[in-house]
Amino acid sequence: MRGELCIGSASFLSLVALILLIFMHVGQISTSSVPRNIAMMKVNMTGYGAGLAAATAPDPVQGLYTDNASTPLSQHLGLRNFYEFGLYRYCAYVNSSHGTCSPRVTADKLQPYEAVISDMPEQYTIITDALISELPPTTFSNSQYLGEFSRAAYYLLLLGSVASGLAFLVGLFRHALGFLASTVFAIFGSLFLLIGSVIWTVIIKKAQGINTVMIHTTPPTPLGITVSLGDGLLLAWAAWACLVVSVLPYMISCCTYRG
Ligand SMILES: *[C@@H]1O[C@H](CO)[C@@H](O)[C@H](O)[C@H]1NC(C)=O
Ligand SMILES: *[C@@H]1O[C@H](CO)[C@@H](O)[C@H](O)[C@H]1NC(C)=O
Ligand SMILES: *[C@@H]1O[C@H](CO)[C@@H](O)[C@H](O)[C@H]1NC(C)=O
Repeated sequence: MRGELCIGSASFLSLVALILLIFMHVGQISTSSVPRNIAMMKVNMTGYGAGLAAATAPDPVQGLYTDNASTPLSQHLGLRNFYEFGLYRYCAYVNSSHGTCSPRVTADKLQPYEAVISDMPEQYTIITDALISELPPTTFSNSQYLGEFSRAAYYLLLLGSVASGLAFLVGLFRHALGFLASTVFAIFGSLFLLIGSVIWTVIIKKAQGINTVMIHTTPPTPLGITVSLGDGLLLAWAAWACLVVSVLPYMISCCTYRG
């Protein structure tokens, strides 16, 4: 009876991990006109208009943003208020509900600076580049660093997802050898998920350095760009926790099961 409980809880935990990871992947892929996203990282550009206006005063800032939710991205047709970056693409929203998304690519690189700069009208792209280069260097605008690490982290999360799927499936064959294989998959899956989640967490924390950047006006004005963690990363951490906890019951099942 206790053996059954052990097997059941191991399967349950690895299944929960798998479902969380599927949400992390699929949340970004869904193709509705009002995209509901599970993003890894979010950028709020709402305050940037005011920051830019302070930097270029007395010249006013006009036409920086677009309020047309279906305007194509990356064509200097207008900045959006909110950007959400996922594993396969990013989406840009004019308000809390309406926006448009970039095409899907596997292992999309996290390049938030490229995304926002390519939406600004040309003249503001030039001013923004100049403004950012005068400020202390930030990770937010280091597209190469963010791009490389986010892509590596994607493959780790993908491997972790495959391993947790295999742990669950192989564990369904009630056999001591199957539980041994599940134990191994759960251990490797947890490691991949851990490293992938740590990389994402670290690069987002570093990118958050932009949140407190001040423009050298008198008095200093906030730059107005705010970076935050997305739900997708929380799902990755939750899945890691479930998979780690499943290792022990899988191990006990493999050592004690007499099928
Ligand atoms: C975005 O940032 C602005 C100020 O910069 C703030 O007022 C607003 O609440 C933020 N919105 C969200 C959804 O975080
Ligand atoms: C919004 O942008 C789309 C695509 O560029 C365009 O077809 C549409 O007419 C625009 N809507 C308004 C109200 O400007
Ligand atoms: C968001 O913007 C869209 C298009 O501009 C508009 O139709 C919609 O009512 C807005 N929603 C909110 C909550 O402001």
